[in-house]
Amino acid sequence: MLIKKAKSYGFCFGVKRAVEIAENSKNAVTLGPLIHNPLEIERLAKNYNVKYINSIDEIDDNIKRVIVRTHGIPKDKLEKLKQKNVEVIDATCPFVKKPQEIVEEMSKEGYDVVIYGDKSHPEIQGVMSYSVHDRVFVVLSVEELKNIKLKDKIITIAQTTRKIQDYLNIVNFLIKNYKEVRVFNTICNATFENQDAVKELSMEVDIMIIIGGKNSSNTKQLYNIAKEYAESYLIENENEIDPKWFINKKTCGVSAGASTPEWLVEKIISKIKDVT
Ligand code: F3S
Repeated sequence: MLIKKAKSYGFCFGVKRAVEIAENSKNAVTLGPLIHNPLEIERLAKNYNVKYINSIDEIDDNIKRVIVRTHGIPKDKLEKLKQKNVEVIDATCPFVKKPQEIVEEMSKEGYDVVIYGDKSHPEIQGVMSYSVHDRVFVVLSVEELKNIKLKDKIITIAQTTRKIQDYLNIVNFLIKNYKEVRVFNTICNATFENQDAVKELSMEVDIMIIIGGKNSSNTKQLYNIAKEYAESYLIENENEIDPKWFINKKTCGVSAGASTPEWLVEKIISKIKDVT
């Protein structure tokens, strides 16, 4: 079996950074699981004693350090955390910090804020909270925007994981309908590099193995792209591999979601080699 890895896969810059922060902050807790990968969470807990809590109210006297996750938290929660008797270690990805800063600064200057993204996503809830006024509108389509009466002074930003083509529709609508629109490109390319690479690889192999947490949306996206071009399987660990998948196959492509550590990718590749 010829096994090929995608040109780009696995941890993005922000996740790599957060994991390194966690490894260097032994005995800390993270507010919510650090990343969407149960095995990596388990490894951090076992090797570095970094566990997670779900709410600030769970902080007791035994907790000395708290790590904030890559997609950040709302400003008031961060303030509340800082008032606790703990060291706050902020692992918010710099690409998420940027839109927080833009919203804070531009809302102070009186701009209406239009965010292209998902209101229920923690990243967006964090970013929204940085506005000093409540004229913040989170939309997922031009249709939604049509129902909102904005002032003639607008800034717009996008959730880091959105597609630029879709964001451009929002931008187009705004500049056609309003006098002053300041556009900030806050989209992070990391997700798309993995998606482009999975597409390219799936087109040339017989079978694709996508590795990642079953609750990770970017992993599921990779799997959906892969299965358009090749027989594909989404797995979390090596025990899920079924040798039957590889019968009559010559080439196998491997990719992994943004929360999948390299050690897990290597473990799965060696299992594929063992069973083929
Ligand atoms: Fe940051 Fe982009 Fe990853 S925003 S957490 S580097 S997907």
